[in-house]
Amino acid sequence: MQASPPHPPALRAGLLGFGVVGSGTHSVLTGNRDTIRARAGCPIELTMVATRTASRARASVQADVAVLDDPMALARHPEVDVVIEAMGGTTHARACVLEAIAHGKHVVTANKALLAEHGEEIFESARARGVSVGFEAAVAVSIPIVKALREGLVANEIEWIAGIVNGTSNYVLTQMSAAGRSFADALAEAQALGYAEADPTLDVGGGDAAHKLALLAAIAFGGPPRLDAVHVEGIDGLQATDFLHARRLGHAIKLLAVAQRAEGALQLRVHPALVPRDSLLARVDGRMNGIMVKGNASGVTMYWGAGAGSRETASAVVADLVDLARARRQGAQVAVPALGFHDAALQPPRVGVFAGLCLRHYLRVALDQPEGGAQVLETLARLGVPVTQGAQGRHTLALITGEVAESRITAALDALRALDGVQVKARLRVEDLAGAADGG
Ligand code: NDP
Ligand code: HSE
Repeated sequence: MQASPPHPPALRAGLLGFGVVGSGTHSVLTGNRDTIRARAGCPIELTMVATRTASRARASVQADVAVLDDPMALARHPEVDVVIEAMGGTTHARACVLEAIAHGKHVVTANKALLAEHGEEIFESARARGVSVGFEAAVAVSIPIVKALREGLVANEIEWIAGIVNGTSNYVLTQMSAAGRSFADALAEAQALGYAEADPTLDVGGGDAAHKLALLAAIAFGGPPRLDAVHVEGIDGLQATDFLHARRLGHAIKLLAVAQRAEGALQLRVHPALVPRDSLLARVDGRMNGIMVKGNASGVTMYWGAGAGSRETASAVVADLVDLARARRQGAQVAVPALGFHDAALQPPRVGVFAGLCLRHYLRVALDQPEGGAQVLETLARLGVPVTQGAQGRHTLALITGEVAESRITAALDALRALDGVQVKARLRVEDLAGAADGG
């Protein structure tokens, strides 16, 4: 008679937080238990949950799952192999994650703010302790972009990344432009649907996209996350009329996160931008995210999927757990370096000067008299700002310039503001990378 195969021990997971992400993680782990086990090579068991409102978790989890109200106790608990951090915030979450690492536990987190602000310390602690920090869920939730950059595109010099990486702001923009909803109504709905951060100004102010961009750039270019180097502007100042003008000029407005390497320096920026209406990024709507990556061998690749949501985020959390289980079966603690580069190769990037950035720009100018339009065009021409597209009504001129440096457009805007009977109402960048799906 053949001996029955040994049962590999379960990977014991402890979950911090039982909100949108935490409850989704529990739901996917239990609902897809058998498939996850078959793929991981061992069971992945949720043994413990720690959260502030313990009653909510107790009502959902099986009786054999311990529910604590002290996240720190879970972080050091001997019956936990991996701590899933789904609480959010940067203070308590940081303390719990560092405590878990100090106790030799792996960490999986959906918390981009935590890693963008404290990633260097957390990744370094994990390296020193020989444990891993998984964060696929922290960037563009259901899109496996961390895996794509760290593994699938490993052969490439990455030239640029341009993407829509905040589901809430994309939901708000889509509602404003397609359904004519107000900014406030659309944001309230995104909050009710569980897409927004606890502090939604992070979503609409561009901060959340900046957190994600800092992480993407770290993996793509090989250095610590550089949140301080990200130029950030949000969508909170956009007016409904700019969606109409942009559409007439053949564009959609999106909140873009761009990381681009040029002449050895890295440019990191988050801002609303006009993208060509027939481009792939213009068609990323609602809470969806879309990310384009240009590698010097792969050319342009594009990734699309839900950018926020409970089970969608859980999909990425569980993927990190399965990676861990597989590595453990092969006797490895850490399968792939957290940032995709070996420690000795990680270098702080040289950051480019923002004033030198050259892009096209959309301007909307209010005119007291129709003749003011000619004055605007003359002023722009005198200051070396070419105009490639424009449409004038009696009291409004909307136009798109040719490529000019930030410093030049800033000087031109100052000159326009000094004209009588002319008010600059909007200035947005136009992003041509977004239309680069042909690989060019
Ligand atoms: P929620 O507010 O829905 O859930 C947070 C959970 O953590 C709640 O159960 C909350 O308890 C608990 N909690 C918060 N602080 C503490 C604390 N100090 N001690 C104990 N428990 C605490 O947030 P989300 O699930 O939406 O987000 C969690 C993390 O995941 C954040 O970092 C977020 O950025 C990230 N994320 C969110 C996504 C989404 O679509 N929502 C997608 C990707 C990442 P209580 O119920 O009592 O408030
Ligand atoms: N608030 C975030 C968003 C959640 O809307 O994109 C996903 O990271």
